[in-house]
Amino acid sequence: MADGIEVRGVTFEYSTGLGSVLAVKDASFTVAPSEFLCIVGPSGCGKTTILNMLAGFLAPTRGEILIGGKPLGKAKTDRGVVFQDFAQLFPWRTALANVEFGLEMRGVGKAERRATAMEYIRLVGLEKFSSTYPHQLSGGMQQRVAIARALAYNPGVLLMDEPFAALDAMTRDDMQGLVASVWAATKKTIVYITHNVAEAVYLGDKVIVMAAHPGTIRQEIRIPLARPRDPLSDEFIATQRHLLTVLGARKPPARAAAE
Ligand SMILES: Nc1ncnc2c1ncn2[C@@H]1O[C@H](COP(=O)(O)OP(=O)(O)OP(=O)(O)O)[C@@H](O)[C@H]1O
Ligand SMILES: [Mg+2]
Repeated sequence: MADGIEVRGVTFEYSTGLGSVLAVKDASFTVAPSEFLCIVGPSGCGKTTILNMLAGFLAPTRGEILIGGKPLGKAKTDRGVVFQDFAQLFPWRTALANVEFGLEMRGVGKAERRATAMEYIRLVGLEKFSSTYPHQLSGGMQQRVAIARALAYNPGVLLMDEPFAALDAMTRDDMQGLVASVWAATKKTIVYITHNVAEAVYLGDKVIVMAAHPGTIRQEIRIPLARPRDPLSDEFIATQRHLLTVLGARKPPARAAAE
């Protein structure tokens, strides 16, 4: 099951004691069923705010969001969410019992939920650690449990907010490979937030580049590269360079005087 997403003219303002903060201004985009969307942008540009609206944790101040064609709020669709924070697992539950949680809440019987949870534990390569508690697992492994937990629910959409930002570079590369294979195996619609342009080029079918103050969409870029992607290929590096230029993190090279 994979749902499409439509975000139509969405604005979000936080109310604070000191007045309101315009976090996202007039954002519109769509994500097709089974599409992989990445959102990149500078710190504070409203990425997490958008994700929290897609998750239904925040309601837009203006505009509307449809998931699977139904307005959010009325929709019965479930969304799996994975956060940056390693502390998102229940510390008193084993890896397997964490993955079972959503199914348990839904009233799925013990044998069935155990079998389903084990399937997703296997998908993220943690079968040897199913009876381990979160504090006995590395950060990368905990994030893998969080991904398995979000998927076990069989949500129409998987939302991920910088899930690997706190990991070292090598573990992060492994995790990106894992997400690519999880996506290929499940064909979920994924919205994935990252600071890292190379990660967005590696994972996304398309990438939304945001600008800060207030958060607006600067450009939507389709990634034309076949999968699996090679981060060292010329096309990959050229796409990454283009994204960095759109992001404003890199000036286009000055033309040679002779040109
Ligand atoms: N609870 C809140 N109350 C008031 N303002 C907030 C709140 N949460 C976020 N903001 C403001 O809204 C804007 C967008 O924040 P948001 O967390 O969505 O950005 P972000 O792109 O996820 O940043 P980062 O890359 O640092 O995670 C920022 O200016 C932030 O200061
Ligand atoms: Mg954020």
